[in-house]
Amino acid sequence: MIEKLFENVDKSKKYKYLKKMLEDQFSSEIDLYANLANGTAFIAQVLSDISWVGFYIIRENELVLGPFQGNSACNRIALGKGVCGTAAKTSQTQLVKNVHDFPGHIACDAKSMAEIVLPIKYNGEIVAVLDLDSYHEGRFTQDDQKGLEELLPLFEKLDWRQK
Ligand code: SME
Repeated sequence: MIEKLFENVDKSKKYKYLKKMLEDQFSSEIDLYANLANGTAFIAQVLSDISWVGFYIIRENELVLGPFQGNSACNRIALGKGVCGTAAKTSQTQLVKNVHDFPGHIACDAKSMAEIVLPIKYNGEIVAVLDLDSYHEGRFTQDDQKGLEELLPLFEKLDWRQK
């Protein structure tokens, strides 16, 4: 069971606390997978109304499921396919208010309604995407995009050669 933290604070503060938690984690651990795993746990603990959060990592030209919090999910996604594959192929954050409006959306969980996927780069190349889902349409806003994009440099400083 995931214990929720900072439930009664506003969104900008949640992202601030999240940044601090990730900084503490990453400064005390060098293993990529330990950091990604706790990274997803922190996000799930701090952000409200999230049904799934996790990484898809590029291996041999496709996305493969990495550390996550939530229900079991699709193992592999081709580059360019679905919301995750589109973020990886275009290097652009995909902010989707209603997944049913996104052509080719991959429904790992039929109840998922909103999604945001952010590309993660290492040495200028896409190495992974960070995917968040919610059962509520419109859950992710420009504020979330900004908050999450401010966390990306922390993930991008990890040692992705370990992937
Ligand atoms: N919906 C994603 C697939 C991954 S799951 O949401 C965990 C997509 O369209 O790429």
